[in-house]
Amino acid sequence: MPCIMRKHLITSALPYINGVKHIGNLVGSMLPADVYARFLRQNSGEVLFICGTDEHGTPAEIAAEEAGKDVREYCDEMYETQKSIYEKFGLSFDYFGRSSAGSNKEITNEIFLALWNNGYIIEKSIRQYYSIDDGRFLPDRYLEGTCPVCKYSRARGDQCDGCGALLNPEELIDPVSAISKSKNIELRETKHLFLDLSKIEGKVDEWVSLHDKWPDVVKGIAKKWINEGLKSRCITRDLKWGINVSLYEYSDKVFYVWFDAPNAYIGITKDWSESVGRPEEWKEWWTPCDEKKVSYTQFMAKDNVPFHAIFWPAMLFAANLGFKQVDYIKGFNWLTYDKGKFSTSQKRGIFTDSALKMFDPDYWRYYLIANCPEGDDSDFSFSHFASIINKDLCDVLGNFATRVLALLEKHFDSAIAVDLREKGNIDEHLLKNVCKHVDEIEENLDSMRFRKAASSMRAFWALGNEYISEKKPWNEVKQNKCASAVCLAHCVHLLRAFAITAHPVIPFSCRNILKILNDVGGEKNIDRLSFDEAKNFQYFKPDHKVGAPQRLFEKIEDDRVKELTLEFDGRC
Ligand code: 2FM
Ligand code: ZN
Repeated sequence: MPCIMRKHLITSALPYINGVKHIGNLVGSMLPADVYARFLRQNSGEVLFICGTDEHGTPAEIAAEEAGKDVREYCDEMYETQKSIYEKFGLSFDYFGRSSAGSNKEITNEIFLALWNNGYIIEKSIRQYYSIDDGRFLPDRYLEGTCPVCKYSRARGDQCDGCGALLNPEELIDPVSAISKSKNIELRETKHLFLDLSKIEGKVDEWVSLHDKWPDVVKGIAKKWINEGLKSRCITRDLKWGINVSLYEYSDKVFYVWFDAPNAYIGITKDWSESVGRPEEWKEWWTPCDEKKVSYTQFMAKDNVPFHAIFWPAMLFAANLGFKQVDYIKGFNWLTYDKGKFSTSQKRGIFTDSALKMFDPDYWRYYLIANCPEGDDSDFSFSHFASIINKDLCDVLGNFATRVLALLEKHFDSAIAVDLREKGNIDEHLLKNVCKHVDEIEENLDSMRFRKAASSMRAFWALGNEYISEKKPWNEVKQNKCASAVCLAHCVHLLRAFAITAHPVIPFSCRNILKILNDVGGEKNIDRLSFDEAKNFQYFKPDHKVGAPQRLFEKIEDDRVKELTLEFDGRC
């Protein structure tokens, strides 16, 4: 049995506010985090799942300017847009907050002042690009140029989207202003605050080394940063939008977005705590009396790993305010789109709003989890999407449900005609197999092996088809109606078991299955139905009536694949 008795704090990387996100963002953090949260809730774990929008920094300012809106107004609107999309995808956040909320201002300044008092902040005069034509400094995304590492031509002043390298503005080749594209820029002296990471390097190194179970992609990135030696990093910016620095001399500057965003995990938990009317409860998650009582898991794509495995832990250690550090970082590689990169700023790929217009959320949820970029990058194409949906959801799960319901309707007036609690009626061989499959799914979800979890679900559904094909209740019904009824009663329980165990991945369809089975209690409580309950084959009483046969999933035809491929190729 997996260890699920602790409190589980789960955060998924906060999506930038600068526009509707693509399905690559979804699969790289929010969706797998949701699957894990749902799985733990079902298996009696106490879960708090936190996310929200990352609203500061140049991405927000640039997007607001492009939309011709004031930044606050832009963020207010985009927060609602993103929140509603995630709800439609069934992401079960306990709270979806905002990094621009007052709670984050408080916590960020509290952490900053602790860092200042503990001697980790240094003041430095640095040279920053200033645009003469735009009349302003050009922090981060306001500066564009060629990446010195991979030669990607649209690298930003702080990070390259091509290779993920973190950059200093002076390192960019042929830099230009991203606002006006002007080359009329020069380096000017300006005073900024730096976090002296070198002073805490030993502690972070020791802590990273303790986490040898983190995925390879996470360990690799963390170790690389440590091995290269931690340098001081600038934590302030010459921007108007952001969290103002609480030191008089720097009050015209704001904190760098990556200095405030992770603190928002704590801030948003405070907001959740207020919202449920228990304003002190956030402390039980972030400053528990016993560290081990809370297990904290973060979900993110690999470009976020340095900030979560090194910088934020370093900040928390150095601030020494007793905040809980992350226990497990589930990092993901990239989902590519037709072998190229998804990009919000370049509007390349499938965006979550249009995805929802094309197909039901469970189609996306299943496909993305079954093909998530766990060990390596994975590629999306509509033909691959259609083949997975048609094979797994339609031919295996959907087909089984339709067969069972149709046979029950035809021969038994849609009723369960036997009592599986009567001695000798249970198929012990089948039940043993069911237990094996349920345990396998449980183990995979518990250890966050998402691709394997999906394939173990598919194997479980296949067991249903194998069972019914072997027992042939349509033949049996003529000679031995009772044997046929016994088989179909098992099939109905199999369907219930599929619904319980696949619910973390395809929650809408699974609730629907229980609805069709007329399992009123189950349908209502599916969020809390433990996997052990999937092994209960004496649940339905004799004479229990199930619904009429219906198709759970629609096949995606070749013409539709061609149409979508063309439509989205046209946009790239
Ligand atoms: O890469 C991103 O989308 C960032 N907005 C993630 C931030 S995670 C957290 F630290 F806020
Ligand atoms: Zn690069």
